[in-house]
Amino acid sequence: MKDVTLRGAVYFTAGARRYDATARTLHWLTAMVIFAVVPLGWIFAEFKKPLGGAALYASLHKTLGLIVLALIVARLVWRVIHQPPALPARQAEWEKVAAVASHWLLYFIFIAMPLSGYIDSSASTHPISVLGFFDVPKIPVSHAVGEAAEQVHVLGQFAVYLLVILHIGATAWHLLVRRDAILDRMLPRQTNAD
Ligand code: HEM
Ligand code: HEM
Repeated sequence: MKDVTLRGAVYFTAGARRYDATARTLHWLTAMVIFAVVPLGWIFAEFKKPLGGAALYASLHKTLGLIVLALIVARLVWRVIHQPPALPARQAEWEKVAAVASHWLLYFIFIAMPLSGYIDSSASTHPISVLGFFDVPKIPVSHAVGEAAEQVHVLGQFAVYLLVILHIGATAWHLLVRRDAILDRMLPRQTNAD
């Protein structure tokens, strides 16, 4: 693909314009699972006797949380071996820095959250049950380490909210204010486009 220019400004540099199908599928799958994990965490941590029993929500939250970890690791491996599309040339330097930094922070927080949850749960007497089929083996951790992991997990949720709101806000800003094709980079190719 050639560079795309409009009124003298380079909008896209040559090279792939979108994330490939695997990266896109993993992105939207991770997003869907995360939108389920968080409310399940609230119900499980805050409700004494939720409908269906606390064990159900604990199991769903922990199972989906571990799935997020697997998806994030898969995304990172895929990203290392498949170069993502270059950022649009029209973006200012600070925008590029903000995009790259916030994306790496998202990867970081979604590794820290499942790991801290897993360590917290390892220190507890409750099982890490995968929907009642089997229990995930725990690692031996002291009570103090479990407590520290719980602090990280409970406080980490606020970093999750902040980063996800920023991420969706930035996407909305690109779509509605800048009216550029940032969202298209994460969507399948449309007919008559490209
Ligand atoms: C993407 C991954 C995850 C996210 C975003 C997440 C988020 C949350 C949230 C928002 C809460 C409620 C906190 C509160 O209201 O106090 C919570 C609680 C909890 N989560 Fe997770 N979680 C994740 C993965 C996991 C995993 C994999 C496990 C265990 C294997 C786990 C174990 C727990 C436990 C034990 C609590 C209760 C903490 C407490 O208040 O004692 N979480 N989580
Ligand atoms: C809550 C879960 C989400 C997480 C953890 C997440 C994470 C990420 C990460 C890490 C990237 C960078 C990919 C890379 O270059 O490696 C990315 C890109 C992107 N995400 Fe999300 N995302 C989430 C939800 C969403 C939602 C709901 C939207 C739409 C409103 C969205 C829109 C985008 C777009 C448009 C890009 C491409 C940005 C670019 O081209 O530079 N994401 N996302």
